[in-house]
Amino acid sequence: ATNAVGSGILAGKRVTITAGGTREALDPVRFLGNRSSGKQGMALAEAALAQGAHVTLVLAHAEVAPPPGCDLVRVESALELRDAVLGLLPTTDVLVMAAAVADFRPAEVMAAKIKKTDDGADPVITLIRNPDVLRESVIARSSLAEPLVIAGFAAETGDAAADPITHARAKLARKGCDFLVLNVVGSGLVFGQDANEVTILDADGTESGPVRGSKRTVADAVINHAARLLVR
Ligand code: CTP
Ligand code: CA
Repeated sequence: ATNAVGSGILAGKRVTITAGGTREALDPVRFLGNRSSGKQGMALAEAALAQGAHVTLVLAHAEVAPPPGCDLVRVESALELRDAVLGLLPTTDVLVMAAAVADFRPAEVMAAKIKKTDDGADPVITLIRNPDVLRESVIARSSLAEPLVIAGFAAETGDAAADPITHARAKLARKGCDFLVLNVVGSGLVFGQDANEVTILDADGTESGPVRGSKRTVADAVINHAARLLVR
């Protein structure tokens, strides 16, 4: 890998990476969140920087600091993340959706802190669906002038209905993106650990991997894969 300006397989290319977990506000002091550490997204940013890309990190809540050298767009909620990503698409060559985007948000955000009531009644929170940012990006791509490679991540388990690859293939088809990075959950690797095992599924039916190693090793494979699709 090289950090020299103007070199690397993504020299002159603009890479947008979403990272971390969104937070969906309930009231001014509370939110619904998730356990995404943001580590995979940060590793992707490092890998893209190492290949000479101009990197914009759309960063939701994360436990780790972003690498120096990327442009930062901080977001809180899925709606904010969507606005940031869609705004960046016309100037993006590669989009990697590594963020854990909340599927649902509270239907109503209270203007004042939710208080316990004297009657002791339990509050009820109604959730509504968030937009699918990956799917919307694929739809928005059709009206862009420049080529854009779009990648998603998915963690899947096998169940009675199908194995993880089958679930991921169905998800890839629903999303319509170029490739999906599949993390098979429950293959012996512990969640949140600094290691990973992924398989890259392409829209054309090809399957690459498994790629095993650190999140940086996975990130290098993902960035290389995206770069190959971009020049194709
Ligand atoms: N994603 C997104 N917008 C959402 C939810 C997910 O852009 N509202 C992206 C994620 O960043 C990821 C990919 O979609 O790259 C797959 O996320 P996943 O949660 O596996 O997909 P879902 O369609 O939400 O399916 P599921 O019901 O299995 O959670
Ligand atoms: Ca989801």
